[in-house]
Amino acid sequence: MDEKERIATMPSYAVGSTVFVADPDQVWVPGVVTQVSDDNFVIQVGQKEVVASMKDLLTNMHETPQSCENLTKLTVINSATVLTCLDLRFQQDAVYTSGGNILVAVNPFKELHHLYSEELIHTYAAAKGSFVEPHIFGCAKLAYDRMCGQFGKDHQTIMVSGESGAGKTVSAKHLLKYLTVVSSQNLSLESSMTGRKIETKILKSNPILEAFGNATTTRNENSSRFGKYIQLNFNRSGNMKGAAISTYLLEKTRVVHQGPAECNFHIFYQMMQPGLRGTNTIGQLFEDFDQSIAFRILPGPSERSAGKDSEMLQNTLKALEEIGVTENQTKQIFQILLAILYLGNIEFMKGQDEDTTKIKQSKGSSDAMKNACNLLCIDSRQLQHILLHRNIHSGRKGRESMFVKPVRQAEAANRRDCLAMLLYSSLFNWLVSYINDQFHGNSCKQSIGLLDIYGFECFQQNSLEQLCINYANERLQQHYVQHFLRDLQNEYIDENIEWTYTEFEDNQPHIDLLDGTCGVFALLNEEVYLNRPKDLVSLGNRLVEVTNGKASHRQPLTPRLHNKINDSSSAAQRSQKKNSEKFSPRFLIRHYCDIVDYEAREMVEKNKDNIPSEVENLVKTSHLDFVQEILTSRTTTTTTTTPSKKKKTVLTKFKTSLDQLMLSLNASDVHYVRCLKPNKDCVPNKFDRLFMMSQLKASGILETVEISHQGHPVRMTYADFLRRYSVVRSNKGPASGQRLDGALQDDVSIDHIISTIANRRLQVRERVKRTPTPRKVMRRRTADDEDLKDLQILLCCAYLYHCHHFCTS
Ligand SMILES: Nc1ncnc2c1ncn2[C@@H]1O[C@H](COP(=O)(O)OP(=O)(O)O)[C@@H](O)[C@H]1O
Ligand SMILES: [Mg+2]
Repeated sequence: MDEKERIATMPSYAVGSTVFVADPDQVWVPGVVTQVSDDNFVIQVGQKEVVASMKDLLTNMHETPQSCENLTKLTVINSATVLTCLDLRFQQDAVYTSGGNILVAVNPFKELHHLYSEELIHTYAAAKGSFVEPHIFGCAKLAYDRMCGQFGKDHQTIMVSGESGAGKTVSAKHLLKYLTVVSSQNLSLESSMTGRKIETKILKSNPILEAFGNATTTRNENSSRFGKYIQLNFNRSGNMKGAAISTYLLEKTRVVHQGPAECNFHIFYQMMQPGLRGTNTIGQLFEDFDQSIAFRILPGPSERSAGKDSEMLQNTLKALEEIGVTENQTKQIFQILLAILYLGNIEFMKGQDEDTTKIKQSKGSSDAMKNACNLLCIDSRQLQHILLHRNIHSGRKGRESMFVKPVRQAEAANRRDCLAMLLYSSLFNWLVSYINDQFHGNSCKQSIGLLDIYGFECFQQNSLEQLCINYANERLQQHYVQHFLRDLQNEYIDENIEWTYTEFEDNQPHIDLLDGTCGVFALLNEEVYLNRPKDLVSLGNRLVEVTNGKASHRQPLTPRLHNKINDSSSAAQRSQKKNSEKFSPRFLIRHYCDIVDYEAREMVEKNKDNIPSEVENLVKTSHLDFVQEILTSRTTTTTTTTPSKKKKTVLTKFKTSLDQLMLSLNASDVHYVRCLKPNKDCVPNKFDRLFMMSQLKASGILETVEISHQGHPVRMTYADFLRRYSVVRSNKGPASGQRLDGALQDDVSIDHIISTIANRRLQVRERVKRTPTPRKVMRRRTADDEDLKDLQILLCCAYLYHCHHFCTS
């Protein structure tokens, strides 16, 4: 809709109308129109008078926190009413709100125990239809009931999304809790134990995955630095029988590099706590440990709590023991972690000339080298050699030759970091496969997948990790846009249903810009495959060109380059060449929710994921069996894709794993939980309206609510409709097992059923009203009954009519 059309369709406001006025701090504030002139309105806002034009006004409504529980049923739907409703509910600790087919969950940042009791799980499990307050348990119920029922798919997925710290991981835990409790009820104690055991194992695995995969970031002190998909498998009776955990893109660069005010993975801080030294076997590792060593890769913001790290360490140790990791294995895990910390302290200096490097001659550096090698059981002279030299292979097949070349200081540091990352990621993969080995029942026909994947990220420095994370978010948003916003509206149009198309932000152009044939990924991959000398200036130019040209559906973006790379004077060219090594090209990408400024400098190296073969071969010479074991686990997890001559880049591998995830999402019924973070400080009782509005816009919640409000929430095929409601067609309803195939396309039958229900509507309503139901439920039933679109009331009518029919015949 263009601006003219928008203004033409705007409501006009008379004196006395209650409105929302745009406000720079509160986004929208309520007020009353006191004067109307040609283009302007005078609005009384509290004690103040504000002059506003039409575009700064939106219609107000008077809702209570209770009447706001379903955003699609608001009297007036606009960004102000949706925001205000969530605010109103948040003030009352009502953190869940329904938004059509999505559940909006606002993180309370405080414990609300009454919301998560087992008793409440049973209440939700027993509840019929949609007459329940919106809740994370309600979402789990819907998925479970659909999986077990006739009308849903065998595979259901609950996609939990939101920005870092919005509550995704906590929500996934609540979903798991519900599914475990409900799938084990009505079972004998022995059988119910299977589900409970799986839940226990998944919950037990949490402290481990969190210790090794989570870190404190500027946005969330317990941010998951990997994506997680938990698939819960159920038998035909709906009992949980097995599970499998898949992880996506562990941010392994965090092991060696952390941004400003960011931390390394929790486990490194946990192992520095005295608790670990008290234990018998593991304590040996720390016998000669020098407390005063400062590890370069272990930055510690002053507010990091040692008490919390100690407590988490105990949880991690307990969890490792409980999932069956032996004491000896645990010791070796810490042995490798300690070696990684020492590796980080190996420093380099320039050798005789620019092209050679040597180990810095300081006690700290040489001790670090010695300790790392001792812990990894590898030869220190060999390690020194491979860090400072690389093998170069040349010649054709059969006539190859190999020579050794010294490396520059930066490359030596890169080889050291590769070793640390190789060890850490192998350890992480080993832990994930160890956890998965505890689960069985993967052959089940039904499943519910819980997807807890990193939220959109925009830091001061954004590199390949953020590019991948934000790409994943674009793909998930696209799934949502495609399956809900676009398909639904197209279906209305196809079926000739009267419908005004609701505009929404389709993010497909953003995805094409990233993974399309000439997109950003293609450019970055090309740099890896061509293996040409690094020319950051030219790469920077091409990246800026691609991101500007392709984002043409938007305003062109101004490239922000550190150097004036388009200056064609020869002096500039010379200095450009000289500075090329230091040059850091940047490019901007307008994602569906924000513009991100990426730094391309390290992207090419990171994208190679190129562990030098000498480094890998050296690790394989370790006398520590456990090192061999974790390396094998790495190989098995990465060679699942078809072998190809080209070594796959990080971006290609990540895209492939996302493609697979999308396939499984497409094969399932997807339920959406949109987590919102009420403030950036992660504190309770603070609802930052500006910040919340940006999330509402970015997540597509506003469009969803609007489409659900205008649209038809119940969509059923004729076949399903007949199966479900044919009970009102015949006197006795279908006998169990009776085939309805003959009547499946029978429009007349469907009309008959609908008119039967419609004719009986008043009568049914009378009957409902006379029953002593609590007021709240009554009100909602009546409202739904007036709105015959609601499936639940249709079912209720059909059922009541059916009972009535039997009683009176
Ligand atoms: N439902 C909830 N009730 C209470 N606190 C919550 C809830 N959801 C999240 N939190 C708080 O917010 C923090 C961040 O949540 P988390 O699930 O880790 O975020 P995300 O996974 O989205 O990054 C948690 O550590 C917890 O303190
Ligand atoms: Mg998380």
